[in-house]
Amino acid sequence: MRDLRLFEGCPAPARPPPGSKNRESEARDTIGLVTDVTLSSKNPTAVKAEALVVATAQTSDGVAVVSDLLPTDLLTQLETLAPQLGVTGARDEVRRIPAGSKLAADVLVLTGLGERAEDGTFTTETLRRAAGAATRELAGLKSAAIALPASDDAEITAVTEGALLGAYAFNRYRSTGKDAGKDAKNGKDPVAALEILTPLHKNAKAKVAAERAEIVAAAVHAARDLVNTAPNELYPATFADAAKAAAKDVKQVKVTVLDDKQLASGGYGGLTAVGQGSTRGPRLVKVAYTPAKPAAKVALVGKGITFDSGGISIKPAAGMEAMKSDMAGAAAVLSTVVAAAKLNLPVAVTGYLCLAENMPGGNAQRPADVITIYGGKTVEVLNTDAEGRIVMADGLVSAVEDGHDVVLDIATLTGAQMVALGTRTSAVMGTDEVRDEVKAAADATGELFWPMPLPEELKSNIKSKVADVANSGPRWGGMLNAGLFLKTFVGDHPWAHLDIAGPAFNEGGAHGYTPGGGTGVGVRTLLSFLEGRASATK
Ligand code: BES
Ligand code: MN
Ligand code: ZN
Repeated sequence: MRDLRLFEGCPAPARPPPGSKNRESEARDTIGLVTDVTLSSKNPTAVKAEALVVATAQTSDGVAVVSDLLPTDLLTQLETLAPQLGVTGARDEVRRIPAGSKLAADVLVLTGLGERAEDGTFTTETLRRAAGAATRELAGLKSAAIALPASDDAEITAVTEGALLGAYAFNRYRSTGKDAGKDAKNGKDPVAALEILTPLHKNAKAKVAAERAEIVAAAVHAARDLVNTAPNELYPATFADAAKAAAKDVKQVKVTVLDDKQLASGGYGGLTAVGQGSTRGPRLVKVAYTPAKPAAKVALVGKGITFDSGGISIKPAAGMEAMKSDMAGAAAVLSTVVAAAKLNLPVAVTGYLCLAENMPGGNAQRPADVITIYGGKTVEVLNTDAEGRIVMADGLVSAVEDGHDVVLDIATLTGAQMVALGTRTSAVMGTDEVRDEVKAAADATGELFWPMPLPEELKSNIKSKVADVANSGPRWGGMLNAGLFLKTFVGDHPWAHLDIAGPAFNEGGAHGYTPGGGTGVGVRTLLSFLEGRASATK
């Protein structure tokens, strides 16, 4: 299978001590997909794998095993014994039981789909989640087969994507001494090989769907890896290196980097101001994918604060470690551009990674500073912890100047996003059509986004007494204030702003195909948006 690893050249992982047993798995730990996928039409009873995954569902009178292909007596037995097995068929429920003599696999894994939708089917997102919940439980295994509903390309996409999204681990910092791996969940590699069982295994569209799912999952994994990488290793300069490495062997993708000196002399006052409190200077990285005869031209601007301490308006210590994830927008953008190229989408896409570390060093910007954003607008910095919108302003002006049809930006921008929508639903704001197009793209790929307004009246919230605009305002409507601030720098250009503050980093337990830590949210929605532009203009 093709090598889908995106970030081979990422900063070197912490090396296991010489002679430790995991040294040989070091190569596989390089960032990317470790799970091999094949489509197969084998009968589930006959697949020789360590585990066979089958779906269960909740019905009005109990539990149903969702399979036409398992022997009826086995189905009846499972459905009758469901209460004793503790199986309810609920979403996110995964149970493992011995496969018994009727199956060639060693273990049967039952993954819950919940209740059927009103039309009697399961949504593709339900399938995606159930597949991912199952593969999360398969870590450490060599082989598994998945027998979930997969009888058209949408279902194959969902099952393959979900399975691969769940087959993720970030183990590069774990030492490999004698106690390593004792914890059943931690330190294990994802399942090595997956067979997706489908009657369409030879169908050309099904194969394309599976290959696309692999590229998408690799892109999401790469974004998660960047988010999970410790901020002492991932800072603006090494993020720029990671971008170059990711694009290295990808045709038609070019990376250009502006370093701190070039940013200062080029008038990028936002990145310069936020970055000046750190010894590790800011970068603006452009990642451009330019296919021949593009049907559309799209800019993606990503917030890449590799660590957000708040700066002089410093954050409280409790929970500050999560602020290594403040570059999740830039990670999503980088992964999306590389994946768009790997998918040969007929759309030109330029990513703008706005990279800086927000630190309270001796040269840090102060509350009351007035800075000049690229293009000339001035900002009064009232709160150095509202740094994301400042670096994004440089990126947005630059993107608008470059003349794209549409500009999307994605950022872990406000705590207020979580107050409004919780930690699983992202927000989208912007010009009406583009905002709705993003929402539709998210719906199509199963990511949760919700539209939010940008009321003109609230513009008074970010009025400055001394400059064109202030970088912070009253607490109420904090997400909208930030959105309105960004709007100042895009004018009337077709645009949408995606605030992923909560969903980008999962501080709770894993669920569905979503692991703890970096989630890679946004990659699928951005890709789906690009695919929409590609087909709309064909
Ligand atoms: N990176 C944070 C937003 C954030 C908070 C993301 C929690 C993920 C989890 C952003 O830079 C920030 O600090 N925003 C401030 C803005 C305020 C000072 C106007 C906020 O939301 O509190
Ligand atoms: Mn901040
Ligand atoms: Zn921030």
